[in-house]
Amino acid sequence: EKGTYPHYMLKEIDEQPLVMRKIIQKYQNDNGELTIDQEIITAMNEADRIYIIAAGTSYHAGLVGKQFIEKLAKIPVEVHISSEFGYNMPMLSEKPLFIFITQSGETADSRAVLVQVKEMGYKAITITNVQGSTLSREADYTLLLHAGPEIAVASTKAYTAQLAVLVILAEVTAKSRGMEPNFNLVRELGIIANAMEVLCDEKEEFESIAREFLTVTRNAFFIGRGIDFYVGLEGALKLKEISYIQAEGFAGGELKHGTIALIEEGTPVIAIATQEIVNLGIRGNVKEVVARGANPCIISMKGLEFEGDTFIIPEVHELLTPLVSVLPLQLISYYAALHRDCDVDKPRNLAKSVTVE
Ligand code: F6R
Repeated sequence: EKGTYPHYMLKEIDEQPLVMRKIIQKYQNDNGELTIDQEIITAMNEADRIYIIAAGTSYHAGLVGKQFIEKLAKIPVEVHISSEFGYNMPMLSEKPLFIFITQSGETADSRAVLVQVKEMGYKAITITNVQGSTLSREADYTLLLHAGPEIAVASTKAYTAQLAVLVILAEVTAKSRGMEPNFNLVRELGIIANAMEVLCDEKEEFESIAREFLTVTRNAFFIGRGIDFYVGLEGALKLKEISYIQAEGFAGGELKHGTIALIEEGTPVIAIATQEIVNLGIRGNVKEVVARGANPCIISMKGLEFEGDTFIIPEVHELLTPLVSVLPLQLISYYAALHRDCDVDKPRNLAKSVTVE
């Protein structure tokens, strides 16, 4: 039930801090340590390469998940769009492990890949929000998101839950390999939950950003470098699916290779700048688009901000910023759709789970 909320999407955005705390609790043992079924950790450790398969928002979570697994557990990861896997099948390693990320657990494109790799005799983990769903039943192992039902077509809390489960999987695997802990993840995820709460309390700010940047535009661009680039892809998808604004997410450095031709007077460019090593690079890109008339909206992180930035998210661990920097993008998309009189929870042409290939 959406209770006092005008839309499920807004309710589900607001639930994200609670979901974070629930995930911490569900994945903690009696000693307060994060744990994952030993069988799953063994499968991770036996693999020489991990193949993440997913669609849409779940694919975007996979792109970030690759960074978590490679940086923390040091296992190579490839991320594939499920509908492409059959045609562009990568050369598989000797001991592949497949991870399917799917909120609904019913996405036909992803299931087709699962059927195919099971036939080939490989092991698969499904990360899903729905216990007993098709992909959960047909995989060897399941990791649950514990996000509660997601009703709005646009995925919000499932995305951040997917990231949280992926980072727990990565860190628990790292620990099992005798690696030094990279951080106190329970603590860091608690900090994330608090930061999410701060952002959920600033809705008016996002409403006014949406009004200023997106009420009358035809298109919008999301740019980022490093992990911020992946968050930009998700921001663009959110915006286009519910507000019908043509939106594109791309790597800041790619601007000059073509896309900059589209920038004209007033084009909104939303830059995500939460990573120290790319901070100056992305700001250089903002200068380039501003020189061509763009209307820039800069989302940065405390400690890395410059004067004139549009919105500053609270400071969280640098690897985990996508869990937080996506909230402004979700909220801006929500208000953009609202200002443009769109049906937020049920956008045209879309269904919550895509059960056809
Ligand atoms: C976007 C969205 C879709 C889904 C995609 C995969 O907001 O909801 O892009 O992410 O259809 O769905 P699942 O995760 O259920 O496999």
